[in-house]
Amino acid sequence: MKRIYTKVTDAMDFFQGNDPTALARQYGTPLYVCNERILRQRCRDLKNMVTYPKFVVDYSAKANCSLAFLQIVRSEGLEADAMSPGEIYMERMAGFSPEEIFYICNNVSAEEMQYAIDAGVRVSVDSVSQLEQFGRLAPGHEVAVRFNPGVGAGHHEKVVTAGKQTKFGVDPEDIPQVRAILERYDLKLVGINQHIGSLFMTGEAFVASLSALFEIAKQFPDLEFVDMGGGFGIPYKKEQDEAPLDLQELGAAIDRALYGFSEEYGRQITFRIEPGRYISAESNVILSTVHAVKHNHDRKFVGCDCGFNVLQRPVMYGSYHGVEIFREQDVPSEKEETVTIVGNICESGDILAKDRTLPEIREGDTLCILDAGAYGFTMASNYNNRLRPAEILIRENGQVVLTREREELTDLMRHVIPLENV
Ligand code: LLP
Repeated sequence: MKRIYTKVTDAMDFFQGNDPTALARQYGTPLYVCNERILRQRCRDLKNMVTYPKFVVDYSAKANCSLAFLQIVRSEGLEADAMSPGEIYMERMAGFSPEEIFYICNNVSAEEMQYAIDAGVRVSVDSVSQLEQFGRLAPGHEVAVRFNPGVGAGHHEKVVTAGKQTKFGVDPEDIPQVRAILERYDLKLVGINQHIGSLFMTGEAFVASLSALFEIAKQFPDLEFVDMGGGFGIPYKKEQDEAPLDLQELGAAIDRALYGFSEEYGRQITFRIEPGRYISAESNVILSTVHAVKHNHDRKFVGCDCGFNVLQRPVMYGSYHGVEIFREQDVPSEKEETVTIVGNICESGDILAKDRTLPEIREGDTLCILDAGAYGFTMASNYNNRLRPAEILIRENGQVVLTREREELTDLMRHVIPLENV
């Protein structure tokens, strides 16, 4: 095997002695590959980012909800948040107890809310009308409310989840209505939460949002916890030496805020964060095979089997993912060239990486798409009736195990009722 362009995975020792071209051959491509060592390290980074003693990291499963992944996260002592019954279900399958799950819903039916109540998980609602619905379903229960602190952040307008233009959270001006509903249904407000948006690379907006959140918290003297949300970013442009989020600096700023708040509040309550991407993104890559290389007018295209059914982020948000190149034969690339790497979906927007200058890529090469562990598999689909990929895990000792089988054509018939049977 020849390493044509492999700076980032080499530096991380991502494959731990395994040959990616051999993995691609053995398990087929496209293939999600998770590295357990890196995943565990990211869990520990966050658990240890503050000194404040009552600090809980809830892993946000929307970023990566694969069972083995959740099992590892749980074994690191993290708790979890959930957005849907499906996430609650998978977290329970992974061994999280109901007390370790925080369901943060948005505009859900009474049936869905009831599922969470019956599952015994903590529930946060994010509008006055959903609080009323919760009250009707579970009078006398404990509940949390998601507030919108009026400050947002994120890498794309689609993922900024607080501030005056977004659908999320309760406007602090509605606190009188919140109080009235709590009273009417004898609900106990045990927590408040926020999530300002996804992928910030400096902590300013996050820390600024805490003052607004703490002002709200001070109006409720019986809180057990405040959940500050997720959004901690990772550097996607690693091969260009993009700097990581300075977790130490952010941790110190958060610590100051938490100790300061506790003093004013009169006691130390639990503070939670709910990161998804920071924990999951860097622990996964996708292996993909190049099936065609061609010139189309002025542009050189590299066609591989990682369409946007496998990784949606570049098409959905214009996101950047680093691409590395491995080759089975020991043949070097003699020149660099600028190429556009595309998938196999029948849309011209199916672009994985545009205008990248890389060593020449050849048919049969194995591409390695970096930082694919967050919002990768969870956003994969069966578009074009393609099959969702397999997942493998590189254990801490370097051993490789299959954690999800590739779908089969017969899976496409699951739940389908042929006309002759309707
Ligand atoms: N908590 C709540 C309530 C959220 O809505 C989210 C993400 C998180 C926590 C975790 O955010 P994180 O730490 O992963 O940034 N698909 C997009 C990201 C969508 C984020 C949605 N909410 C992407 O691929 O960039």
